[in-house]
Amino acid sequence: MKQNKRNFVCTKCGYKTNGYLGKCPSCGSFNSIEEIIDNPSVNKSNLVKSIELFHINSNSNLKRLKTGIDEFDRVMGGGIVSDSVTLVAGEPGIGKSTLLLQLCGKISDKMKVLYVSGEESASQLKMRSDRLKINDDNIYILNDNSIENIIEESNVINPGLIVIDSIQTMICGDLDSTSGSPTQVKEAAYRIINFAKYKSVAVFIIGHITKEGGIAGPKMLEHMVDVVIYFEGDSKKLYRLIRATKNRYGSTNEVGFFEMTDTGLSEVKNPSVHLLSDRPDNSFGNCAVCIVEGTRSIITEVQSLVIETKFPVPRRTSDGIDYNRLCLIIAILEKHLGNKFSISLFDIYINVIGGIILDDNSSDLAVAISLISSYKSIIIPNNLVAFGELGLSGECRSTSFSLIRVKESIRVGFKKIILPFNDYEKIKDKLPDNSCELIPVKNVIDLFIYLVK
Ligand code: TYD
Ligand code: MG
Repeated sequence: MKQNKRNFVCTKCGYKTNGYLGKCPSCGSFNSIEEIIDNPSVNKSNLVKSIELFHINSNSNLKRLKTGIDEFDRVMGGGIVSDSVTLVAGEPGIGKSTLLLQLCGKISDKMKVLYVSGEESASQLKMRSDRLKINDDNIYILNDNSIENIIEESNVINPGLIVIDSIQTMICGDLDSTSGSPTQVKEAAYRIINFAKYKSVAVFIIGHITKEGGIAGPKMLEHMVDVVIYFEGDSKKLYRLIRATKNRYGSTNEVGFFEMTDTGLSEVKNPSVHLLSDRPDNSFGNCAVCIVEGTRSIITEVQSLVIETKFPVPRRTSDGIDYNRLCLIIAILEKHLGNKFSISLFDIYINVIGGIILDDNSSDLAVAISLISSYKSIIIPNNLVAFGELGLSGECRSTSFSLIRVKESIRVGFKKIILPFNDYEKIKDKLPDNSCELIPVKNVIDLFIYLVK
């Protein structure tokens, strides 16, 4: 009799091997290799014939279901595609279950919805739905973790949308590994995805993340689904961002902005205004920064505190900016401003408002301004915003989407915009007269002279 093939896979990076290894040769993690069993239920003898590309119907008219939560629909690429499978991942307590229950509430007037919970009891879900003011006959709750039961129940109810909360708690009865193991997670996802495609049901799968921030379970999970959405932000803070890191039906750049309230997640349609609402007047170290997420621009604030150190080695702490990028900006300023910016005996603390992460180098200029402002005690006016990248020679380099950034700045009410000289050249004739003062800078010396004058 043919034996099922035995395979081992690294749960961190997905590396495959034929035998157990203590250390993964690919990513170097210890004890991350686990056995997976090749899916015996797949019938590989069904030969599928190839089709000429010309004869394949284009799917450009994909049927998308708008949920009415605009921030969510935008991230999905315009709504939920009928047989799509979406993985929603994020830290515990960030709001995954809340968002998906709200989603069920929004679309249950159009179709039946099955919410499967392997984590919370039916009464806990009822309490949550009362809090969210969701009360609809079309929402079915299944408090179970058996994939076989879920598929059987789905065949009876015929929902248009299924939520699986969470994939790590689900179990395929015919496999003997425990729930959450790579074999179970992969097989459970595989069966749900097959069911979704066969029955044309949209499925949302909630996934836990590891302490390093990746999705727990095999890396393959992300390859198997159509859309992967990550929740960003701090569960202790107000704002939550959702971002698609993979989307077979749309762009991956879009973000959705939410705020956690006592009645669930509420959309933030105008993030810049929200993020800037508590700005202090006439203080040092603050500078507004204009970033671009997907097709829209968002303005938030960078705050720096530069103070004489009391430690043998000065401290540098960053929240919202990559630590190495911060060190690079400090080094550029030290090198090119010389004794005007001599901070080797100063501690530096830097923070970005709203849990936003400035992962794009176009924020360099604003970070530099906030550092100079705190060090030199220069007040940066609240109506000034900046964007631009810094090069190692101290030059200000142009950014993409400069016009979008400037237009958003003007819309929110900024009157002075510091930007790289090349961006200024590109957009100076495209704005109405007197809409704002554009301040082009070529390098950090230009910038410093403007700030201290
Ligand atoms: P939850 O959706 O359970 O998080 P996850 O599924 O990602 O683990 O949300 C958790 C937090 O949100 C919880 O700590 C309580 C808070 N919350 C509110 O502040 N308001 C609400 O209306 C709800 C439902 C939850
Ligand atoms: Mg949950």
